[in-house]
Amino acid sequence: MSSLDPSFFDRILHSRSSCRAYLDREIERETLQGILSVASRAPSGSNIQPWRVYVLQGQSLKDLSQKVIQAHDALARDPSLSINFPKPYEYYPTQWKSPYIERRRENGWGLYKLLGIERDQKDKMHLQHQKNFAFFGAPVGLIFTIDKTLEKGSWIDYGMFLQNIMLAAHARGLATCPQAAWVNFSTLVMPHIGASGDESLVCGMSLGWPNEQELVNTFKTPRVAVDEFTTWLS
Ligand SMILES: Cc1cc2nc3c(=O)[nH]c(=O)nc-3n(C[C@H](O)[C@H](O)[C@H](O)COP(=O)(O)O)c2cc1C
Repeated sequence: MSSLDPSFFDRILHSRSSCRAYLDREIERETLQGILSVASRAPSGSNIQPWRVYVLQGQSLKDLSQKVIQAHDALARDPSLSINFPKPYEYYPTQWKSPYIERRRENGWGLYKLLGIERDQKDKMHLQHQKNFAFFGAPVGLIFTIDKTLEKGSWIDYGMFLQNIMLAAHARGLATCPQAAWVNFSTLVMPHIGASGDESLVCGMSLGWPNEQELVNTFKTPRVAVDEFTTWLS
């Protein structure tokens, strides 16, 4: 394997970012197939390959968006409706602690600041968040599910598969945004995609050609230095 070029690989990793505005341009089926195929080279414990993918395009994507946007609006008007939307799992901690809460705030407020949304402009925040449910205008929406009997180990495997999709797409000039936002509307998403009762929603992902002109796509996120998260033992 002497022909691998680490600088090319590092460039791919460094230049990927979450894309929240897309061009109105379709993706060929062959390209989608290629991305999913190479992504499935992800390792998984005992090679059980726990991923299951639903690819939404055209009417199926529009219909899901419409259902979830309606529910998102209704929920904003009447938070007590949340009883109708139980989450399959908690993506975030219920009790936040340092340094995660600070990083989360920096990320959220950073994006809103870039878009000129002030802290008291709840309606604008709602509308920006709602773009999640139109897959940010991407021509392809991916919904990922996992068998309910699988354990945490398979969720580790799943993350590798998701990252492979994002990198394989990026290497083809496409862009993605992984989306936990869909988890809140699992009760609408799962019947829409025809998932069985054995499956649980993992997350969604927007996939499309990036709109480089959109301000939102200039948002770049920092990372903490290696020495902040690494303990060297000898
Ligand atoms: C599993 C997962 C779920 C995410 N969910 C959302 C989401 O629902 N909406 C969104 O706009 N971004 C979402 N993100 C994107 C993160 O905000 C983003 O990855 C992080 O801020 C780092 O930025 P970068 O991806 O541009 O490097 C998610 C990321 C991951 C990995």
